[in-house]
Amino acid sequence: MCGIIGVTGDEGALETIFDGLRRLEYRGYDSAGVALVDQGVLWRERAADGTHSVEDLVAKKAAPPSSRAGIGHTRWATHGSPTVANAHPHVDCTGRVALVHNGIIENHAELAATLADQGHTFTSETDTEVLVHLLEDELASGAGLADALRTTLGKLRGAFSVVALSTSDPELIVAGRRSVPLLAALGQQTGLVASDVSALLGRADGYFALDDDQVAEVRPGSLRVTTLDGREVDPTVVTVDPAWDVVAAQMGGFCDFMSKEIHEQPRAIADTLLDRRAGDGSLVLDELHLSPDVLRAVDKVVVVACGSSFHAGLVAKYAIERWARLPTEVVIASELRYREPVLHERTLVVGVSQSGETLDTLEALREARRAGARTLVVTNVVHSTMAREADGAIYTRAGPEVSVASTKSHLAQIVALDVLALALAQWLGTMGARAVAAVLDELQSLPAAVADALGRAKEVDDVADALLGARDYFFIGRNLGYPVALEGALKLKEISYLRAEGYPAGELKHGPLALVEPGTVVVAILDPLRDKMRSNVAEAVSRGATVVAVAADGNPDAGGDHVLRVPDVADPVLAPVVEVVPLQLLAYALARRLGNDVDRPRNLAKTVTVE
Ligand code: G6P
Repeated sequence: MCGIIGVTGDEGALETIFDGLRRLEYRGYDSAGVALVDQGVLWRERAADGTHSVEDLVAKKAAPPSSRAGIGHTRWATHGSPTVANAHPHVDCTGRVALVHNGIIENHAELAATLADQGHTFTSETDTEVLVHLLEDELASGAGLADALRTTLGKLRGAFSVVALSTSDPELIVAGRRSVPLLAALGQQTGLVASDVSALLGRADGYFALDDDQVAEVRPGSLRVTTLDGREVDPTVVTVDPAWDVVAAQMGGFCDFMSKEIHEQPRAIADTLLDRRAGDGSLVLDELHLSPDVLRAVDKVVVVACGSSFHAGLVAKYAIERWARLPTEVVIASELRYREPVLHERTLVVGVSQSGETLDTLEALREARRAGARTLVVTNVVHSTMAREADGAIYTRAGPEVSVASTKSHLAQIVALDVLALALAQWLGTMGARAVAAVLDELQSLPAAVADALGRAKEVDDVADALLGARDYFFIGRNLGYPVALEGALKLKEISYLRAEGYPAGELKHGPLALVEPGTVVVAILDPLRDKMRSNVAEAVSRGATVVAVAADGNPDAGGDHVLRVPDVADPVLAPVVEVVPLQLLAYALARRLGNDVDRPRNLAKTVTVE
């Protein structure tokens, strides 16, 4: 996730861009940049400070140019590490066109190969840079900037929003999008575009939303919107609540980051899946940096992680064992280090970490490297220590996660690990190309299924109302329902401070059942082993527990005092991605009713860099 902005007709264009970038910084902050056309010359400045890049950029401006138009970007790296060379805006070979981009260009490798053959010089590792070279070619053949952008966007696969400007028409900024938000705003003598309304508030008389495959031509005080084939359309008018302040807008109208991040999950999953398919439909993993030969030699997988990342690893065990037929062990990172684990060069050790900095996981990976194992990290932060030190990486593209309790990065981790499991199956030959493609198709349907699950929040709220007052919770599940139960219990204890234990349902009778009494809540994940779960639910019911069943729509016998339905998912290995959603919503609803600060729970930290 990145933030982009474009401004024209503004005497203080540079300051407006800086202000907009500060307001967009919540979308990413590992690098930032700005470009303006100043007296016919393109002026560009970039910074890659890691965490305070926008302020670093502001401090760098040597002599503010007198330009009235410019573009800016704040980056959360997905392709290429967060360096100044990879920071946007990117500029073409002639130095006359600059462009900023949010999203992923799936066919960038093919486009870059063709452009390089034609003599274009690339200066970054980003997927974005192909766009400025494509614009350069169109302009060289006589097209105007808007025509050039329409043609260029027509050549792309992926999800993106872009803003560009050129020296040939210095007061024109052009912008376009597909599947990634982009808004335009008009003042009397100004025009702006940005990733979201937070960067535009207070600067416009009217706001407009671009739809997919539309291009905006913005000049001082005027906006023209066309489809990619050049047909002019009326822009969609957006009404902005006058009560919105900048902070509320940055949270997208949500009360807190946790609910915002829960609702960003469909996009986080979709972005994590982008760019994973080659032209022939086979699976590709660009960031992996481990050759198929090395991976083919792997005979055991060990996943190391903490907290919610550990639970994502537990789900992955089922995927890797089922699809790639590799024995897989999932270990809490702090437990791996001091136990003399059996690791060697044929062991693939996968660290799973949102932050890429959790000390226990980092040290477990270091231990694995010392033992000669191959290491891989699944992380949300491209420039993290783990990403730098591991042999290879798979990036979750969830964007910055602010709330301490992990939500969107957890679902993105499960999906990224599913992709890894499929890649191993493809390389080891345990699944044929058609079977791999079928699971990839199924993965692509998950964003819609998660959106469907999120649409049922009202049912969860009603259950939360009914449960308020209960203090003891057991979350139980079997097989793939077990890690879901663990994650549900963790979410609840993290933010509601209620006692919540996750248990394999079959173990209930070996101890915890002694604690079940009237008033105890048992949350039962019924699938995939619904018949076996029925008897575990009965054990709890007969001790007076209040039972909340989590069941797929197609599960006919979801008993219990309350039922939280989730959409059917054809492959049971993928079902945890939707089953976790009502449990996140339940924890959130109970914590809010108890008056807790859901974003900053007591005693906890987002990134734990101590043992
Ligand atoms: C902390 C966070 C959790 C997170 C865990 C692992 O405990 O509060 O939400 O799951 O660390 O963090 P990581 O960044 O390694 O995924």
